[in-house]
Amino acid sequence: MIVNGTTPVWVHPRFDAERHMAHPPEPDDVRRALEQHPDAKGMLLITPTDWGTCADIRGVAAVCHEHDVPLIVDEAWGAHLPFHAGLPTWGMDADADLVVTSVHKMGAAIEQSSVFHLQGNRVDPTVLAQREDLLATTSASSLVYASLDGWRRHMVEQGEALLGRTLDLARRARAEIAAIDGIEVYGDELVREGHAHEVDPFVLTLDVRALGITGYQASEILRDHHHVDLGAADTWRVGARLTHADDDESVDLLVRTLRSLVDDARRAETPPRVDFPSTEGLELETVMLPREAFFAEVEQVSAQQAVGRVAAEMVTPYPPGVPVIAPGERITQDAVDYLRSGVAAGMLIPEAADPQVDTLRVVRDSGA
Ligand SMILES: Cc1ncc(COP(=O)(O)O)c(C=O)c1O
Repeated sequence: MIVNGTTPVWVHPRFDAERHMAHPPEPDDVRRALEQHPDAKGMLLITPTDWGTCADIRGVAAVCHEHDVPLIVDEAWGAHLPFHAGLPTWGMDADADLVVTSVHKMGAAIEQSSVFHLQGNRVDPTVLAQREDLLATTSASSLVYASLDGWRRHMVEQGEALLGRTLDLARRARAEIAAIDGIEVYGDELVREGHAHEVDPFVLTLDVRALGITGYQASEILRDHHHVDLGAADTWRVGARLTHADDDESVDLLVRTLRSLVDDARRAETPPRVDFPSTEGLELETVMLPREAFFAEVEQVSAQQAVGRVAAEMVTPYPPGVPVIAPGERITQDAVDYLRSGVAAGMLIPEAADPQVDTLRVVRDSGA
């Protein structure tokens, strides 16, 4: 996203239609957007994605800097990246100006341990501190600081060895899961022009389509039958993540339960069909500033009546947490069909005003 004055400009992700999966935009996508919007103030790039695919951060940074705007990277899932050369490049090494990392995700700090990394002079540290102060708590937690410092020290002293061991575990897990009939583990084949620039090897994205079940069902079966909780699930996949805290035992458990899933899937109900939109069907038109739509007079209307209306809320299947509808966008039939059929198949939309999506929150029609 590029912020041009107050208007966000979406730089659309690279969409892998075969896998129904979005990867971060490429440098040329960002260049085009900056050329079309010369008054843009900066670029916000999300990488790695929830499925572990990574942007060409260095390439995007070079394009941003040619246009004299800062690159801010949401590297929520990248706390481990600085500490081993065998992992994808982290934003600071790739010339990003500001990187935001949730150390509680792939690192070992306690929840709410998100940090900024800042370099160069395109983002003024005083302005950043003042804006952060508007949103942050005034009651800082010493537990958060202590766990952040513990993680930093752990990684500086032992990170290379621990993450090197995790890379070995990831290679073993990938080989053993690839041998399971009906489960595909995504890997380096995602890295090619027009798709991902790099892939985080610790993220095991497991496609269960061939088992005839959805990722939602797989996740439920693993939890209910085997007490194994995975982080992400969507219609086709579940996601497992390895960290420096994993070992042979945890990988054995994962592989063993995935083997059982093949049998469990035979007994599972046939899942309802999800109406996937086309790539274009996911690119809704922004017709109002998100802020204006969010703070406008709103009404809750049936999902069918919402088609053609301007959304006043974010509608985000979570996990993985990528919005299908953002405030200010004109709601399409494709988006409604996808969300409603998705909910019927197990998709969770926890933050919508109506998580069942029988109704949607839209900007009140002044003529109504
Ligand atoms: C890409 C991305 N950015 C930001 C966040 C939120 O991070 P935090 O937990 O630090 O609030 C998430 C949470 O899942 C995320 O996936």
